[in-house]
Amino acid sequence: MAAPRKSTTGSRAEAQALERSRDLPNTRTAPDVESLKRAFAEHLQYSQGKDEHSATSLDRYFAAAYAVRDRLMRRWLQTQQAWYREDAKRVYYLSLEFLMGRLMENNLINLGLRDNLKAALADLGIDLADLLEQEPDAGLGNGGLGRLAACFLDSMATLSLPAHGYGIRYEFGIFDQELRSGYQVERPEGWLRFGCAWEVPRPEYVVPVRLYGRTEHYRGEGGALRVRWVDGRRVHGMPYDVPIAGYGPGAAVNTLRLWRSRASQELDLADFNAGDYLRAVEEKDVSENITKVLYPNDLTVMGKELRLQQQYFFVACSIHDILLRHLKTHDDLRRLPDRVAIQLNDTHPSIAIAELMRVLVDLHDLPWDEAWEICRAVFGYTNHTLLPEALERWSVDLFGRVLPRHLEIVYELNRRFLDACRGPGKVPEEAIARMSLIEEGSPKQVRMANLAVVGSHSVNGVAALHTELLRTELFRDFAALWPGKFNNKTNGVTPRRWVLAANPELARTLTEVLGPGWVTDAGELRRLEPLAEDAGFRRLFRQVKRQNKARLAEIVRADGGLELDVDSIFDVQVKRIHEYKRQTLAILRVVAEYLRMKGDPTYRPPPRSYLFGGKAAPGYAMAKAIIKLVNSVADVVNHDPDVRGRIAVCFLRNFRVSLAERIYPAADLSEQISTAGTEASGTGNMKFALNGALTVGTLDGANVELREAVGAENFFLFGLTVEGVQALRRRGYAPREIERTDATVRAVLEAVAGGRFSPEEPGLFRPIVDSLLGNDPYLVLADFADYLACQDRVSRAWAEPEAWTRMAILNTARSGRFSSDRTIREYADEIWQVRSTAID
Ligand code: IMP
Repeated sequence: MAAPRKSTTGSRAEAQALERSRDLPNTRTAPDVESLKRAFAEHLQYSQGKDEHSATSLDRYFAAAYAVRDRLMRRWLQTQQAWYREDAKRVYYLSLEFLMGRLMENNLINLGLRDNLKAALADLGIDLADLLEQEPDAGLGNGGLGRLAACFLDSMATLSLPAHGYGIRYEFGIFDQELRSGYQVERPEGWLRFGCAWEVPRPEYVVPVRLYGRTEHYRGEGGALRVRWVDGRRVHGMPYDVPIAGYGPGAAVNTLRLWRSRASQELDLADFNAGDYLRAVEEKDVSENITKVLYPNDLTVMGKELRLQQQYFFVACSIHDILLRHLKTHDDLRRLPDRVAIQLNDTHPSIAIAELMRVLVDLHDLPWDEAWEICRAVFGYTNHTLLPEALERWSVDLFGRVLPRHLEIVYELNRRFLDACRGPGKVPEEAIARMSLIEEGSPKQVRMANLAVVGSHSVNGVAALHTELLRTELFRDFAALWPGKFNNKTNGVTPRRWVLAANPELARTLTEVLGPGWVTDAGELRRLEPLAEDAGFRRLFRQVKRQNKARLAEIVRADGGLELDVDSIFDVQVKRIHEYKRQTLAILRVVAEYLRMKGDPTYRPPPRSYLFGGKAAPGYAMAKAIIKLVNSVADVVNHDPDVRGRIAVCFLRNFRVSLAERIYPAADLSEQISTAGTEASGTGNMKFALNGALTVGTLDGANVELREAVGAENFFLFGLTVEGVQALRRRGYAPREIERTDATVRAVLEAVAGGRFSPEEPGLFRPIVDSLLGNDPYLVLADFADYLACQDRVSRAWAEPEAWTRMAILNTARSGRFSSDRTIREYADEIWQVRSTAID
């Protein structure tokens, strides 16, 4: 049923016809205003089948999107041809998440079409901004890790690197968050309901994938012992390609290939003929379930069979695809490491290591040792977490049932690896147990992080501190064995989306004073530094910020009715809701501030608007309770006439990429307050700083480097360091002692636990307070007093607008290092050894 993937070389006449079509003055893809107008009108009629009497906003969006897409296609093909022509080494970025957001505006910007399309549509009485709002977010990720993958795609294309992203085309991405009585309610996000203008289905490249079944050992040619994987279930992986345009004229258009699972058989004819219609289509449902939903990430391992199926499914399809592409131009798999680099975004795709071994050894007859050398040379692994509960493990039982051959391979890899470690002067015996790919115990488990470390030539952390902790703690045994394998690649964010698209006013200002170079060389932002001393420029910078605040205030007003004072400090904490990120610390401070104002009418700090946003994993009760607490505090504070105009609290519903684009540019203050040693990097911190917000932060993740970059005097630091955290834990953390001795802590906890913010249900928030006073691993109360003192410094600093603006400008000027272009250059040079190739 599945068409084999077979490209045919067309006739010379066809090639000539294509060539001619490229040379002709191409009205179909010309970028001028008139051509865009015509393209829009044509697509409205010929693609959407609508006219001025029947077109909806969505039709108009699609017509415009197709006009843009036409202008991507040529360059896409040119790029792919160039990779073949140059026989370029390619990098494959495997990630279970790509949090892309909307694609239209980014494509317009990167192709240089935004102004012309805006003008073309304006001539037709259509507002481009309205059309852009029609596009649903492609929310194929949970948070930082998935958004990082999306930023990396943008940078890889902009740097013209031969790169491909591989992931899953979830039918339902991350849920939409609604609020009911202050509680999070999840709604399935049907982003594909009306179709996606940016994907191209490729049913002709479908890949068969096996699951379950058993292995057969047999004697092959010459009596060699061989293994094959037989029986079980078959599903098909169907690729959908999304072109990823880099920024600027010489940039590549790369491919994000997303896999969708399809039944290998649409209909069981035997059942159908026997009259059992439902049974006949049952198999189809089971197979297609694999790519239905994105698993919510609550930073605990999900021991779910379907999740393992997802991981293997997308990895098997991708490895198949990668080898096919390689074999098209090279008949020797031994050359794979010269031509291919595969980066594993966290352990989620790490089963790829066992899969490549299987394919090389079982299907291509390579000797084990040779196959293993190839694997280790090809794979790189990026670790994203230090929290032990987030390290993936699969029970040996489950793993062996779903992937019987891979379990054998993991066991064999482990046997050989541990044998090599043993022996006098080698690895100490107690370390061997920690390094094993199998965790003994009940149940026995496969440790995916250990598999990823052993099977890769490079293991990187995502911020300097994080990498240091990987070397000295999480992977210390491996680092002692292979010190050269571990390296740091501090995360970054793309300035195209996070400044150019999200903050057009700031972008225009930057381009006016610096020229356009900063967009692709964010180091150029440094030249802004002298302007921090220029009163006129500071005024301009403040105006831009104020406009962005007004834009966000309008969104808030339209969504919930709350009126934000644009002259107040916009104090923002947006990110996934998690105890380690300590939204509790921020909301408890709001309570402290509120109580202080109530108790002392002469206390008049500058007005502040506290803005929170983020989703809680549906099964994470404490995170959901925190959302409810924020909303309950908001309810009381926002309705109290005693503090009106001085303090406002707002939970921004349904935080997602497109909303984030409105939030970062409007922030004055960025809250990065996780317990030191828990956040691997953070990337929100970078987006805020680039947009001229000042950070209140702990020495955690990339905050450390951010503070170094912007200057300690332009960063509000508080809290325990990693060493301080470790020492306190050793001594024994005693939150009840803090409660006993600190009157503010006592008053705040009493108010929360006693029902001041939940009068109808006084005990509602008791569990939050109990957890803070119990065995709180995140030491919220330990940092509380210092956090309050730090926030008082913030209030004092705000009172000096010129000095504040100077600091804000310096934050923008000195954050260029946090462009994902820099990060990707480091990956390309130091891990992948792939080179940029300019596209004609
Ligand atoms: P893929 O590498 O098979 O995914 O093909 C992607 C694109 O690469 C195609 O649409 C072509 O534009 C280009 N391409 C594929 N094979 C060749 C080739 O042999 N020479 C030049 N370009 C190719």
